[in-house]
This record gives sequence, C-alpha cells and structure tokens, in this order.
Amino acid sequence: MENNPCLTALNQLIADYSLTAQNARLCHWNVIGPHFEDDHEFFGEIYDELADETDLFAERIRAIRSNPISTLTDILKITKLKEYVLPMTARQMQKNMLADYECISNEMWEMAESTADDAVTQDIIVGSQRQIDKRAWMLRAMLGE
Ligand SMILES: [Fe+2]
Repeated sequence: MENNPCLTALNQLIADYSLTAQNARLCHWNVIGPHFEDDHEFFGEIYDELADETDLFAERIRAIRSNPISTLTDILKITKLKEYVLPMTARQMQKNMLADYECISNEMWEMAESTADDAVTQDIIVGSQRQIDKRAWMLRAMLGE
C-alpha cells in the first residue's frame, strides 16, 4: 500500500492540515491589534474548518483499508510546513497563513492528477482545495493584496 498515490496524498494532507490547524489555533489565541475581534474569529473559523477536512482525509484512508497517520510525531515528520513562533503581529500571522494555504493549494493541484484513478479520493481533494483557495482569497483581501 506504500506506493498507493491516494494514501500518500491523503496522509500528506493530514500532516499539512493538522499543522496548519494548530498554527491557526496559535493565531486565534494570541492575535492582538485593532482588528482583534475579526482576526480572532477568522483564525478560529479556519481552525474548525481544517479540523473537519482532516477528518474526511483520514476516514477516506480507512475506507480504502489502510490507516491514517495519527500521531504528532508523524505529522511533524511528514508536513512540509513549519510551526509558527511567537511573537507575531496580526499581519505576520495573515501573511504566514496565506503562504501556507498557497503551498497546500499547489500540492493539491498535483494530487488531483496523482489520484485520478480514484475518483472518490480525487473528489475529496478537489472539494477541499475549493475551501483552501477561498480562504487564500480572504487572506489576500485582509492583507490588501
Ligand atoms: Fe476560541
């Protein structure tokens, strides 16, 4: 099963989404500034969204009779993204989050091709990419880009 491109893609997404969710939580808890309420809400919303989507990836892996990565050790080993380090300004949080969302979106473009033999897995990835791209747009708008 190790060479199954669906399993590889879904586990990569579990790792990247899990780390991004924790980074969003860090932002939700620690953001300060004149737009505190909006930023706090936004980062809380994306935390919830990322956690829900991660569950879809893991449950798809169980449906194809394998086991998702499930430990923080494996998540940190597999993710290409970095944990945020405080202190950060609200703007730095938005910029880092945008860069991470763009990175995830780019890898999803490749995964949509590598999972083409399994339309169900591909559909999950494409559906999640729609959310990622929507949030990336919102982050660009928050940054005035
Ligand atoms: Fe909260």
